[in-house]
Amino acid sequence: MPLVKTSRLITIERHIVEQGAMHPDATGEFSRLLRDLTLAIRILARDVRRSGLNDILGLTDSTNVHGERVKRLDIHANEVIFRAMDHGGHLCVMASEESEDLIHIPDEYSKGKYVLVFDPLDGSSNIDVNVSIGTIFSIYKRLDPSLTTPGTEADCLQPGFKQVAAGYAMYGSSTQLVYSTGRGVDVFTFDPTIGEFLLTFENIRIPKRGRIYSVNSGNSHKWAEPVRSYVRHLLQPSDDGLRPYSLRYVGTMVADIHRTLHYGGIFMYPADTTAPNGKLRLVYEVNPMAFLVEQAGGKAITGTQRVLDVQPEALHQRVPCFMGSVDDVEEYEHFLSMNGSTT
Ligand code: AHG
Ligand code: MN
Ligand code: MN
Repeated sequence: MPLVKTSRLITIERHIVEQGAMHPDATGEFSRLLRDLTLAIRILARDVRRSGLNDILGLTDSTNVHGERVKRLDIHANEVIFRAMDHGGHLCVMASEESEDLIHIPDEYSKGKYVLVFDPLDGSSNIDVNVSIGTIFSIYKRLDPSLTTPGTEADCLQPGFKQVAAGYAMYGSSTQLVYSTGRGVDVFTFDPTIGEFLLTFENIRIPKRGRIYSVNSGNSHKWAEPVRSYVRHLLQPSDDGLRPYSLRYVGTMVADIHRTLHYGGIFMYPADTTAPNGKLRLVYEVNPMAFLVEQAGGKAITGTQRVLDVQPEALHQRVPCFMGSVDDVEEYEHFLSMNGSTT
């Protein structure tokens, strides 16, 4: 059994350049953007590793735009990504979970044709207990790439199918970077001894059906009937041995999606009576993950439509989501249609 699923010994930098070269009109700008982003992720991987040691843990007194108490590591991650990305000349604007408004490129730096949206630290509730956390990112081309003026909110509010790249870093038992530029999903693992991300899984494919469901069941009393009856169904043993499903829920979307990409099954954050659009944010959480899931051969829906087709209306808007193996998501859709409901 090989340790890794690829035989090519290749760093992420090299991989990015090779992929860039496949585009006939590539200027190298996109490759340089990704290289800057991997620098931020390297720095964050280091800081997360040391987080119990350098007084970076703990709550601040402030709340973010969602009214949640913010961990110091969230703010730190927001700053590191900004500082790595503001001066490269590749971006015209950024948006982040931890910044209420758009993040503008400082006046002194030139504006490029790309847009970066990100969740600097995903899984904040797991920081203090040494459970996997991550960073989620998504890249768009600005609406008018010929402009050299600052980017606008409209540039950040493009539907997910327009993403030119998306990915996440997971700071787990190792640090992995998982990303796609629309040609499948590749996984890189950080080797701290040489300071490089090495390609470990190429073009991962999500199983057509899994045997795991992932959801915060503590909210089940607030779900609509189709979600409840679907989950009840998953727990019923079946003669073909496909059910009952196992429940796995880390509470860090990055980790739950990472497992889903490898093992299959379904990850859900449904709407409920107190959260009519669920909890997760469309622009910098659900869209990038939906892009990866689709690129790996899976499916991602809101309950009423394909996630990537949703036209965002606000930077921090939430959306219900159901994503993972095609057969699992379609089985949920079957429950929706039986109940004559779409939530
Ligand atoms: P964040 O830490 O960026 O605020 O995101 C946390 C999200 C996501 O990672 C996870 O799937 C979800 O919150 C968990 O929410 P519940 O605790 O409500 O299950
Ligand atoms: Mn998050
Ligand atoms: Mn976050």
